[in-house]
Amino acid sequence: MERLDKILSNLGYGTRKEIKALVKQGLVEIDNEVVKDSGMKIDPDDKEIRVSGEMVNYRQNIYLIMNKPNGVVSATFDNYDETVVDLLDPEHQAFKPFPVGRLDKDTVGLLLLTNDGELNHRLISPKWHVDKIYYAEIDKPVDQNDVEKFKIGITLDDGYKCLPGKLKILESDENGSKVEVTIQEGKFHQVKRMFNALDKNVVYLKRIKFGPMELDLDLEEGEYRELSEDEIKSLKTI
Ligand code: URA
Repeated sequence: MERLDKILSNLGYGTRKEIKALVKQGLVEIDNEVVKDSGMKIDPDDKEIRVSGEMVNYRQNIYLIMNKPNGVVSATFDNYDETVVDLLDPEHQAFKPFPVGRLDKDTVGLLLLTNDGELNHRLISPKWHVDKIYYAEIDKPVDQNDVEKFKIGITLDDGYKCLPGKLKILESDENGSKVEVTIQEGKFHQVKRMFNALDKNVVYLKRIKFGPMELDLDLEEGEYRELSEDEIKSLKTI
């Protein structure tokens, strides 16, 4: 059992004082009865709450998929830059979500955000071998030799030997190349450093897949949506 004002406040409906005012105006209903006391205790899993006639979607955890834009940092707070959490509506910020792993400031594409610490841990741990796929543009040509090096495991500048990765060449000529890279880890700047180890530079990087989730083509850069129940289930069962 939890206080109604706390439940609604956690869902982003305002401060406790603001919720008290909504109740006073008769705008809050539980199972079709107008509420009189904003401090009443209820079991939110068991009751239908409405605010201004609209049903409240009660949940403790939130799961979001974003198409991250360039120039925004994957953090909950930053002194200088806009963060991915700044891009969320207050109603979603109220859940205090954080990004699942990090994308660099100049990397775009699929980013999951949640406040579910357990799922976050599973998704970012290399132990679970979750595939992350990136589309990358490289300043130089790539060839079968590079594909083999990815397969064996590239050694980064600090001596770390990456787990085997997959390099798929989409296009390659003297002016550069377009590739898809599959990795199961998420070391700092990993894809860029893998190509640096081959004496090449990543000039554009977009994450297109994270485990079972694909970048949602309906989402413009900077847009996001909540995951469906099925999508959440598919992430929890990998
Ligand atoms: N690898 C990188 O180098 N940058 C990212 O943002 C993600 C993977």
